[in-house]
Amino acid sequence: MAFARGALLVFGMVVVMLVAAAAEGGGTVCFDRVFSFGDSLTDTGNFLLSVPEDFPDPARNLPYGQTFFGRPSGRYSDGRNLLDFFGNLPTFSVSLLFAYVLLCILPSLSGSAEAFGLPFVPPYLGGGDFRYGANFAVGGATALNGSFFRERGVEPTWTPHCLDEQLQWFKKLLPSIAPSETERSDLMSKSLFLMGEVGGNDYNHLIVRGKSLDELHEIVPNVVGAISSAIKDLINVGAKKLVVPGNFPIGCVPLYLAIFPSQKEGYYDEQTGCINWLNEFTEYHNKMIQEELEELRKLHPDVTIIYADYYGASLNIFRAPLKFGFTVPLNSCCGSDAPHNCSLSVMCGNPGSVVCPDPSKYISWDGLHFTEATYKVVIQGVLGGYATPPLSETCKGGEYRVSQLHQCTDNPTNTVTYDALSSFI
Ligand SMILES: *[C@@H]1O[C@H](CO)[C@@H](O)[C@H](O)[C@H]1NC(C)=O
Ligand SMILES: *[C@@H]1O[C@H](CO)[C@@H](O)[C@H](O)[C@H]1NC(C)=O
Repeated sequence: MAFARGALLVFGMVVVMLVAAAAEGGGTVCFDRVFSFGDSLTDTGNFLLSVPEDFPDPARNLPYGQTFFGRPSGRYSDGRNLLDFFGNLPTFSVSLLFAYVLLCILPSLSGSAEAFGLPFVPPYLGGGDFRYGANFAVGGATALNGSFFRERGVEPTWTPHCLDEQLQWFKKLLPSIAPSETERSDLMSKSLFLMGEVGGNDYNHLIVRGKSLDELHEIVPNVVGAISSAIKDLINVGAKKLVVPGNFPIGCVPLYLAIFPSQKEGYYDEQTGCINWLNEFTEYHNKMIQEELEELRKLHPDVTIIYADYYGASLNIFRAPLKFGFTVPLNSCCGSDAPHNCSLSVMCGNPGSVVCPDPSKYISWDGLHFTEATYKVVIQGVLGGYATPPLSETCKGGEYRVSQLHQCTDNPTNTVTYDALSSFI
């Protein structure tokens, strides 16, 4: 055992050096815990927890979760999603790394990793201990509330738990995890608030109902306004570090490629094969959200508000999929034999659906959501520069106390640890 510990300390030093080297490249991120809001791109179980047990959701069954978890995990992916990679980013600190080696690696080798492991950001509706972060994202959630859509003749049927309600959940939780004013301001200032992606479903509701591009443009200020008011609310209760992602290039989504085909010249982007009008619309939303964030930064110079460019990070993949190991960019891995392996009638997980043999070769998992492999590359991209300002801005403000070891995992193989570190290098 003494020998094993010695070897591990050497290993620990190597890890420190690797991360230190990566930190020079600007990959440093500092936060104690994550509170996350959003939709199915970051849901880690809330949707399934929000519906009756017999509610027929495909994510309740395999092949959802087949990668990494080996079972459905409430995520809309073959494996982990954006939040899992985000929530497990290493906080850079030498003392943390030693603590990490002591608390995570040693016990895991002696078979008790779970005792120390804080696995993933836990879904709020699952109950439990949220002192180390909570995920409020619900699959299907919109930024705007139900009445907004109903007034426009659209019934938002996917879930009623919109961004505003997720925020109410957080405010209700806060006094229980930080009872005193001092504890609250400490917790708020050292937490990272991941605000989405959210808003994509607001547009999806209109797009799948065949609403016009003009109608889509009309609601952009409302969607951006809802996200902005959630950010202001959090800043009012003391948030100091926020990451606000833009939307993804929805013109590259197999479901939309399948339901909006066209022979028109210039309809598809020559390089990627994605639908131009849908991607241009996303660019418009992303431009508006960035303008709003600029205003918020002026109003709150003491708050770090980072725009995470999910659009750029994923378009980068669609432009050169092979570079990232993706051989099938525009079809879904799990779906039907329809064009793009995607149709509304036979979605992934429905009877008659088929799964590709190797999801890591596909960008899209089920026609709407990405594979774990893609989510990982997107987060690596955000760490690598698809963020304004860079994520290292979260570290300004001096002395940093580490109260959570994000690297710990309940997975006996420590795969999360490996991924979190490899995403730095
Ligand atoms: C829904 O949002 C609108 C603003 O878009 C707000 O005026 C209204 O009070 C909200 N309704 C509910 C029930 O929260
Ligand atoms: C994709 O669709 C083609 C037919 O268009 C079919 O031959 C193939 O099996 C499908 N693959 C998957 C993984 O669904």
